Amino acid sequence: MSEADAIDADMQSFWNGVGGNTWVARQAHTDITLRPVADALLAHAAPRPGESVLDVGCGCGASTLDFARVVGPSGSVLALDISGPMLAEARSRERKVGVSNVEWRQADAATAPLRDYNLLTSMFGLMFFGNPVAAFTHLRQFARIGARMSFVAWRSLAENPWIGVPMEAVAPHLPARPTGKPNAPGMFAFADPGYVEAVLTAAGWSPPKLEALDCALDIAAGRGIDEAVTQSTQIGAVYSWLRNEPDETRSAAVESIHKALMPYVDGNGVRLPAAMWLVSSTPSCGSSAARRRDNLVWRGD
Ligand SMILES: C[S@@+](CC[C@H](N)C(=O)[O-])C[C@H]1O[C@@H](n2cnc3c(N)ncnc32)[C@H](O)[C@@H]1O
Repeated sequence: MSEADAIDADMQSFWNGVGGNTWVARQAHTDITLRPVADALLAHAAPRPGESVLDVGCGCGASTLDFARVVGPSGSVLALDISGPMLAEARSRERKVGVSNVEWRQADAATAPLRDYNLLTSMFGLMFFGNPVAAFTHLRQFARIGARMSFVAWRSLAENPWIGVPMEAVAPHLPARPTGKPNAPGMFAFADPGYVEAVLTAAGWSPPKLEALDCALDIAAGRGIDEAVTQSTQIGAVYSWLRNEPDETRSAAVESIHKALMPYVDGNGVRLPAAMWLVSSTPSCGSSAARRRDNLVWRGD
């Protein structure tokens, strides 16, 4: 198995296992924490009524439902995710909010046959491909004439204290760990703008525009410091680090996280800086033009 295939297999088992289940359990909280990001992505992507949207890594569907509302009944959203548990949660939320123009599909965005889109978007769902150039090349093939891409991805760990502060608090309780490879598939894969540009241009997209999005995220979701501590132990690296640790190590780590988060308490919120890229690009080759040249059926806009 190639390294890329092994990464994809790990992602399948993580997002269909512990990662997906934890995300579902924490979904109501995470949606509140990430609401400013979902709003910024919607403004950046600017979907229009009637458009066909492809949402990659839709998860439990928070931003998907935003896009579905804006494109309206004359438009549609194809929401892709590899995670069965997260899609099940998304489907049940859709029924509650009365949106009916989303097709939720469990599939790998890097390889699945898709339908044509005007807008490719993603909230934190494009950084996990084992072979990102192949994945973005594949996604480009379904772009309509005039299609655009708009997605959000994290900048570096150092620029994201909302996740770095709990990690630093926990680290002294555990043995030293090797630092990850730069640009490795995962949460911070697209932190480096040069790497994002290299991947996208190699995959036939135009040089992307990266706009910094900086905001304070309320990791307590308005529910106080104890909830912020719980959230910090349930997501990202801290969750994986503590998962199999004995109770005494976990308790000591939780106490340290509590102490580290105290300076950020703001009423019932706990607000820490977060840093992201809003990335936009358009296909530069091999999409609509190539398909017409190859005499494939073309629906256009
Ligand atoms: C960090 S979560 C973001 C979920 C959601 N967009 C949100 O912001 O609430 C990343 C999502 O990408 C999905 N994902 C990872 N690799 C994928 C792939 N190759 N194809 C489709 N979805 C993928 C995961 O299953 C997960 O739901």
